[in-house]
Amino acid sequence: MQIAVANRLNGIGEYYFSQKLKQIEELNKTGNPVLNLGIGSPDLPPHPDVIRVLQEEAAKPNTHAYQSYIGSPVLRKAAADWYATWYGVTLDPAKEVLPLIGSKEGIMHICMTYLNEGDYALIPNPGYPTYRSVVQLAGGKCLEYELKAENNYFPDFEALEQQVQAINKQQGASNSLPTGEGRGGAVKLMWVNYPHMPTGTLGTPELFAQLIAFGKKHNILICHDNPYSFILNDQPASMLAIEGAKDVVLELNSLSKSQNMAGWRVGFLMGAADRINEVLRFKSNMDSGMFLPLQLAAAKALSLDASWYDSVNQHYRERRVKAFELLDLLGCTYSKEQVGMFLWAQIPEGYADGFALSDEVLEGARVFITPGGIFGSAGNGFIRVSLCSPIDKLDAAIQRIKESRSVAV
Ligand SMILES: Cc1ncc(COP(=O)(O)O)c(C=O)c1O
Repeated sequence: MQIAVANRLNGIGEYYFSQKLKQIEELNKTGNPVLNLGIGSPDLPPHPDVIRVLQEEAAKPNTHAYQSYIGSPVLRKAAADWYATWYGVTLDPAKEVLPLIGSKEGIMHICMTYLNEGDYALIPNPGYPTYRSVVQLAGGKCLEYELKAENNYFPDFEALEQQVQAINKQQGASNSLPTGEGRGGAVKLMWVNYPHMPTGTLGTPELFAQLIAFGKKHNILICHDNPYSFILNDQPASMLAIEGAKDVVLELNSLSKSQNMAGWRVGFLMGAADRINEVLRFKSNMDSGMFLPLQLAAAKALSLDASWYDSVNQHYRERRVKAFELLDLLGCTYSKEQVGMFLWAQIPEGYADGFALSDEVLEGARVFITPGGIFGSAGNGFIRVSLCSPIDKLDAAIQRIKESRSVAV
């Protein structure tokens, strides 16, 4: 049978990593497996107390039913307490926190909730590829804003103003009119992500305040995706901590990286009660609440103290030293101030782009490094190395690259 896929899939390919993993699997079958330094999936386990809560709760007979669409009150309270303790943000756990099956699904829910066919969403270039595909799947159009090294990978607000004004002009809409309202073609969302993936750039209160003012001026919902704030960074920051943020900001956060729980799929949406209810109108039609033992274990994870984050970061700090060594070997240039679980590095002269360098290292040394171009055209001259590998794997990768380079010379 041949059946045409829906038009919404036009231009949406298989996710780059799912394709690349198949190629790596094929290479692995030939012996001498590939060392994968591509994907940012924490290899370290969650805290043992978290596992214990999951086991104990799962062994009870009464924890297996469907769960509320808005999540367990225990988890919502734990998330609000986490935000109060670490980010200095006050949230009403009953109304301003929505547990998610990972923050990635939240990106979809937000786009489906707010974008009419033909509405625009501002997305960062380079940036997390999901923003682009999800905006398109929701029927929206992407308006890229470039993040340049010379501007510390912060948006250029003059350029943003021009972009939005051009769209508004095209729309025949005045800035003072509410956007959307079913007509399509308005700029309604802006995706923002600091600490920024892939460049490892930390946001500042001034930047957040500027983004909020921009959102208010143009009636654009600022969607801040914040999963990396604890990694190699001892001052986690939320955009919701800025005065007046709830008027215009929705923030996503996640246990994937900060609690080593990527496979558990636990994230949150935080923001004004009205926004949370709007998103819930979509989400509650798509799925149900998560397995209760998992929610209770996630609540435990959110209550961990500073020693947890210190121990995780100790690993990443040691690995980062090795990753610097690897990048030096490849002749790349990079900032040592980066945060998050990746290193972003400019490729040396002599390569057409990061794909060429990545392919050379994969073929010659059987080490996979992510080409920066998958994060957008502005990433073409870069590569990204993940810190989610133990020291011995990083050492082995360095050794293989050294050997392949000595053979090539
Ligand atoms: C910037 C960014 N946002 C969101 C996600 C998704 O995280 P989660 O596991 O919470 O869905 C990732 C995962 O790689 C990411 O890099």
